[in-house]
Amino acid sequence: MSQLKCKMIELPKILDRRGNLTFIEACCHIPFNIKRVYYLYDVPGGALRGGHAHRHLQQFVIAASGSFTVRTDNGFEKEDFYLNRSYYGLYVPTMTWREIDNFSSGSVCLVLASEHYDQEDYIRDYHEFKQLAAEGIADGQS
Ligand code: TYD
Repeated sequence: MSQLKCKMIELPKILDRRGNLTFIEACCHIPFNIKRVYYLYDVPGGALRGGHAHRHLQQFVIAASGSFTVRTDNGFEKEDFYLNRSYYGLYVPTMTWREIDNFSSGSVCLVLASEHYDQEDYIRDYHEFKQLAAEGIADGQS
């Protein structure tokens, strides 16, 4: 069974004396069509967000401002990613347990999502996640 991997993706960056510009087109830069955008902001020091996985949702996480750490686990391997540039993002595939912490003051965590919000898609129990991951219950694997 192939394990799903997170990966950092560098985005186009248009340098300009008036301020830099980065863009994302669903066809070309990230491997899914965007159905939803949400963002975390005004995050107090020491907060931890996430602590769940998704059965079908794919996400692309960007530090639009400031920095934070995305801690990922595909059920087999754990990997931490420190995001601190707005021209990079982290692709998070289906069936990835993720937590976000270490937010800098004033940071903004921008998330592009492949699906609309669906509470049923969440796996909030880590032991259930580990079991489903071991059984290969994910998109294209069930
Ligand atoms: P949740 O995904 O649990 O946040 P986090 O993973 O960052 O801790 O969502 C927190 C609340 O916000 C929860 O009540 C559901 C709601 N929510 C929406 O209504 N729509 C959305 O797109 C998202 C991401 C969350």
